[in-house]
Amino acid sequence: MRASIWISCSLFAALLPLAGAASQLASPARDAAPFVIEDYRRPAQTPYPLSNPFSAAKHELGRALFFDTDFSRSQSRSCATCHDPRRGWGDGLPRAQGEAPEPLPFRSPTLLDDAWIEKYGWDGKFRDLEAVAFAPITTPKNMNMSEAELVERLSSNPEYPRKFALAFEDGAISRRNIELALATFERSIRSGKAPFDYWIDGDEAAIGQAAKRGFQLFAGKAGCAECHSGWSFSDGSFHDIGTGGGDDIGRGRLFPSSRKLRYAFKTPTLRDVARRAPYMHDGSRATLEEVIDLYNKGGVDRPSRSELIKPLGLSEADKADLIAFLESLSDQPTLAQPGASDGRE
Ligand code: HEC
Ligand code: HEC
Repeated sequence: MRASIWISCSLFAALLPLAGAASQLASPARDAAPFVIEDYRRPAQTPYPLSNPFSAAKHELGRALFFDTDFSRSQSRSCATCHDPRRGWGDGLPRAQGEAPEPLPFRSPTLLDDAWIEKYGWDGKFRDLEAVAFAPITTPKNMNMSEAELVERLSSNPEYPRKFALAFEDGAISRRNIELALATFERSIRSGKAPFDYWIDGDEAAIGQAAKRGFQLFAGKAGCAECHSGWSFSDGSFHDIGTGGGDDIGRGRLFPSSRKLRYAFKTPTLRDVARRAPYMHDGSRATLEEVIDLYNKGGVDRPSRSELIKPLGLSEADKADLIAFLESLSDQPTLAQPGASDGRE
């Protein structure tokens, strides 16, 4: 599918000079690249499911719940402690820290552009955003609350009974309504427009030459875009790229008989990636340089390794170009709208 679009667009591009309009439509640098510009245009509308449509009241309630430390037993943590808008909706830690002294098994993922994802969690164990919320809430090592205790706390809050009544017909402070409101807020967490997007829209000066060369590598020789595909830089799928080991088998836990899903983790979005170190599901790579080194080495040679992962033979200049490209994917947050254009419908 992707290949056929590519071919038809290349043909189209080849015919354009005959029409004499090529230079007005797109710059030569972008025409020459092994990618289709349309794949990289950000969608205008956020998708909300029919089962949980957007409403302003539900969204406002979801925002209040997301930042509320009453969600953790010791009142020390809200969802935003680990999904912090000032840290690209992650927490900057190698592995998340809940109420227990030892860290959780995974790093806190960003929630940016989660409305477009189909399976949630590093191993895809959650079917939708609504299904995620009560996992952190009730996990003893994380927020350590029971459903009944949470409902009781929220019911005695002076604001929530009114807010739930505005957001839901039944007005109930219930598990289901908490899930629906949190998911509505989370769907609105969108990446902002980055220099790369201005370049895609035709502003040649928006990113430097190194970033342009980096994108050529990313979409071409280095094969990154096979998995980090399209405007959100993720195929939403699961691959063994050379992380994980021992018991940490990712999606293999859900599909024990699959050879390919052993050590397979979800391809994360690369939006705002430069401000989300450390990297990977286990925070095992401290810098983007370390990430590139892993790919350059070709991951780990084992039966589950993705066939797309192989030694790349990148030069030092190539590596610097790739990093310049990755850095062009961060928007410029303001204090009023930190890191995301949240709240847009
Ligand atoms: C102590 C840190 C911590 C807290 C608090 C926390 N999370 Fe998370 N969150 C994580 C970690 C770690 C994962 C990855 C879990 C996995 O892959 O199994 C995660 C995964 C998620 C995901 C999946 C994202 C994706 O793209 O796959 C969503 C959605 C999410 N959390 C929402 C929430 C909500 C809503 C709350 C509050 C009720 C919350 N989290 C509280 C650490 C935390
Ligand atoms: C076979 C699919 C695949 C290819 C090809 C691929 N990636 Fe990834 N990428 C992934 C997966 C899966 C992860 C998450 C692995 C984990 O968490 O353990 C990841 C993680 C990353 C991360 C860390 C993001 C974060 O938030 O932790 C960066 C940066 C990255 N990739 C960049 C690249 C670059 C640059 C290339 C090309 C050199 C590339 N990727 C090629 C699938 C791929």
